[in-house]
Amino acid sequence: MLKEKLLDFSGHLTDLLPLEKTEISNLFEKPKNKDHGHTSLPVFRFSKTLKKAPPVLAKEVAEQIINKKIDGVKEVQAVGGFINITWTNGYILENFKEFINEEKLGYNDSGKGRKLIIDYSSPNVAKPMHVGHLRATIIGQAIRNLAQTQGFEVIGLNHLGDWGVQFGKLAWAYKKWGSEYDFKNDSFNSLYSLYVRFHKEVEEHPEYEKEGAAAFKRLEEGDEELHKIWKEFIDISMAQYQKTWDRLGVKHDLVKGESFYADPRKLDHVVDLLEKKELLEESEGAWVVHLDEKRPPCLIKKSDGASLYATRDIASALYRMQDLECDVNLYVVGSEQKLHFSQLFSVLEKMDYPWAKDCHHVAFGMYRFKNVGKMSSRKGQVIRLDDVLDKATEMVLERINSKNPDLKNKDDVAEIVGVGAVVFNDLLNDRVKDVEFDWEKVTDFEGDSGPYVQYSAVRCKSLLRKAKEKLKKDSFDFAVTLSEKAEIDLMNLMMDYPNILSNSYKTFKPNYLASFLLEVSRAFSSFYNKCPILSIEDKALMESRLALVSATLKVLEEGLKVLNITSPEEM
Ligand code: ARG
Repeated sequence: MLKEKLLDFSGHLTDLLPLEKTEISNLFEKPKNKDHGHTSLPVFRFSKTLKKAPPVLAKEVAEQIINKKIDGVKEVQAVGGFINITWTNGYILENFKEFINEEKLGYNDSGKGRKLIIDYSSPNVAKPMHVGHLRATIIGQAIRNLAQTQGFEVIGLNHLGDWGVQFGKLAWAYKKWGSEYDFKNDSFNSLYSLYVRFHKEVEEHPEYEKEGAAAFKRLEEGDEELHKIWKEFIDISMAQYQKTWDRLGVKHDLVKGESFYADPRKLDHVVDLLEKKELLEESEGAWVVHLDEKRPPCLIKKSDGASLYATRDIASALYRMQDLECDVNLYVVGSEQKLHFSQLFSVLEKMDYPWAKDCHHVAFGMYRFKNVGKMSSRKGQVIRLDDVLDKATEMVLERINSKNPDLKNKDDVAEIVGVGAVVFNDLLNDRVKDVEFDWEKVTDFEGDSGPYVQYSAVRCKSLLRKAKEKLKKDSFDFAVTLSEKAEIDLMNLMMDYPNILSNSYKTFKPNYLASFLLEVSRAFSSFYNKCPILSIEDKALMESRLALVSATLKVLEEGLKVLNITSPEEM
């Protein structure tokens, strides 16, 4: 039921329970058993104050609610310490219409007037994005979209890994061996090959290490030639990443790579601030900030004066929170960087920034592939993000060829469904856990998969196309009240959408939304199986059912959009 309606309803209960109506309305939960009514009010917390056992209290209050004859209430039942409420069909439809006709479905303005910055994808120049970046990209974009539904002003940030001694090495390698590669036609692979080559050659020629470090020093000091080469590396890499982001529909608003903070003025500023707070200590020639016994100190400046990943992240946090005036700062990065972020946030706390508590590491687990062999994962190397997308698309195309061989634009559909399958599968998993990646399951059209949700949307679309033709109408209204259980259940479930969005955002867990979309798909399937639509005589009922189909499509498409997934017209 809608939040405002529960609030109204709670207003009727303030003389029965010792709480304000807003607080009462926050207590309602979904009954564990669907046959136990539409919403449930646990009374355990009142037991002590009112000096009654929960089941006794639930029974008494339930009776009092019945006596009040409140509008919309059909049944009230006490089960254990719960009061279960069933609404009338008319009341559900009335609420549902209000819900579905909202302009921005499920949005609220809890974040209004606040700025949220979210760092996601953030690959490392010269290296292909791997499955870790797949997660950072997909989860990050979904949380970014979720934040928008909560009314935040959102800045999507690409904290590109474009600085560090490796770029000195790479530029040196480029000057030495660059001409052996086809930078003109195959620039990104050439760049990566060069990277791999340097690390291989160094094993036999350790002196190359020094050459690389010296080149980095010169790059830091502003050497023009090296700077030009380095800039070229960034352009080549960004062009490559852009292709992947386009496939995934991922967008950043701002690119501020690590090099942006490597500027000596910014770094000196960080060092100055730490010194003023007397946090900087010397340790084996380097400068560090000591934390607690449980964690190693945070390394700020190496003995040769060079900055580190952490130093650049401190500068970046200052930039985000002070220069850009953000209120919330999210880092969507794998769990393997847990220590780094805990150190970073502790240093910010020690620097007395009150906003340190508004910085969050949105961590995630790793992928474990079942049947890696099915993918041409160049043995022993990292699994590339694009290879995962290609493989999924290929598998979906096979399925289409066997199920629906006459489909038009098969390749385009396979791309939408294949990419959607990977994205959905990722988001369906609780992000903190590792993901068991099973190709068959991920691309299954009928299982708990993205294709299944997309398929449900496609079914709605096809039904509506046929209906428009048959009834010579473009849109459908709820002409009569719907009363089949499958219809009521579907409407009641969908009205939970705003709650799902806000819970997903608050926990930074898009899996609540993904699971919800599966539930809606299943509820739609029950409705579709039990309630005939285009074959019935009763035109008013037919229209109402079509209105429900079109509402379901809206919820599915809006929800998928938040997860950054689209659905094809047919599949
Ligand atoms: N480039 C890093 C990596 O690929 C991720 C950067 C995350 N963001 C940050 N502010 N440290 O591992």
